[in-house]
Amino acid sequence: MLRFALVGCGRIAKRHAELLAQGQIAHAELAAVCDVVPAKAERIGTRFSIPHFEDMHRMMSAIRPDVAVVLTESGRHAEHVIGLAKYRCNIIVEKPMALTLDDADAMIRACDGVGVRLFVVKQNRFNVPVVKLREALEQGRFGRLVLGTVRVRWCRTQAYYDQDPWRGTWALDGGVLSNQASHHVDLLEWMMGDVDSVFAKSATALARIEAEDTAVVVLRFCSGALGIIEATTAARPTDLEGSISLLGEFGSVEIGGFAVNEMKMWKFAQPDANDENVMARYSVNPPNVYGFGHQAYYEHVIDCIRNNKQQLVDGLEGRKSLELISAIYESIETGREVQLRFRPSRCRLGVRR
Ligand SMILES: NC(=O)c1ccc[n+]([C@@H]2O[C@H](COP(=O)([O-])OP(=O)(O)OC[C@H]3O[C@@H](n4cnc5c(N)ncnc54)[C@H](O)[C@@H]3O)[C@@H](O)[C@H]2O)c1
Repeated sequence: MLRFALVGCGRIAKRHAELLAQGQIAHAELAAVCDVVPAKAERIGTRFSIPHFEDMHRMMSAIRPDVAVVLTESGRHAEHVIGLAKYRCNIIVEKPMALTLDDADAMIRACDGVGVRLFVVKQNRFNVPVVKLREALEQGRFGRLVLGTVRVRWCRTQAYYDQDPWRGTWALDGGVLSNQASHHVDLLEWMMGDVDSVFAKSATALARIEAEDTAVVVLRFCSGALGIIEATTAARPTDLEGSISLLGEFGSVEIGGFAVNEMKMWKFAQPDANDENVMARYSVNPPNVYGFGHQAYYEHVIDCIRNNKQQLVDGLEGRKSLELISAIYESIETGREVQLRFRPSRCRLGVRR
């Protein structure tokens, strides 16, 4: 049994706690939770009959878990991961791993320095149709990739942003690109390969927040393929879709649904015996935009720890999509096309005034 402890008992913690505490993940148990707001820790602690704390250091010293899970505000992930590294347990951090490349580097250094494994949550990589798409890509079924696009058309009302002061701020969250669409940006880069340059525009269309609620991005990949990111939380009146399309020389695939869970198109010039079943077997739209991926994600983490396997998204892999998101914000600020690899100078994401 691996014993998990949660740092942060807010919205997403509920999902982590339910999975870990209700026997849905083999070889895992929820050992304790903490939150600086005692009532939040108490709510989860009492519900699952486990110890709850106000301070993460007191929890770590008392419980000594095998895995600490950081579920705090995005702009505080670095401080918490670095603070936890000294307890020398495995660390999972929710997406985005951090908001600045300096923070991401410091987290990787802190974990590597004491031999701690860092896992970044990118649960959409484990969605069943996404796994199938990746398999087709690795088999070379697309040939040369031509165009990769992602769409995030979600509905986040003012009430969503107003429920916590950190939401939509540059210092602790950023906008739709760094928060909601960070999954889709990660998927696009994972499928299409390294990015050469980006050009982006954004707007704060409907929400009263510092950062953007709507953005469009044109990408050029190192392979020569092109890409588009379309991201908004200003879709009304409900969530519409979270999707990815890959077009290649020999085939085209589109996965849609709310959370990249529904196979919409699966077409290859050279059909495979299993192709006929793909549409039926790999298209399950989840009940909400979080999708089903967290369960598969935890199973992956446990497999990596128990069997000493390499995790799919470690600190360096998590940093890659942060670098891309930072480059997109740099393009928005400068009005210019931005080449990767780069260090931001004008991007406001994660900057504390
Ligand atoms: N993977 C996903 O699909 C997904 C979905 C939602 C949120 N998230 C990510 O999860 C993180 C949390 O989001 P949320 O919506 O749950 O936020 P939230 O504001 O509801 O919860 C954050 C909690 O962390 C607590 N906290 C802050 N500092 C702490 C500390 N030092 N010790 C203990 N607790 C502390 C806060 O009091 C708060 O309760 C964000 O980074 C977000 O991007 C990921």
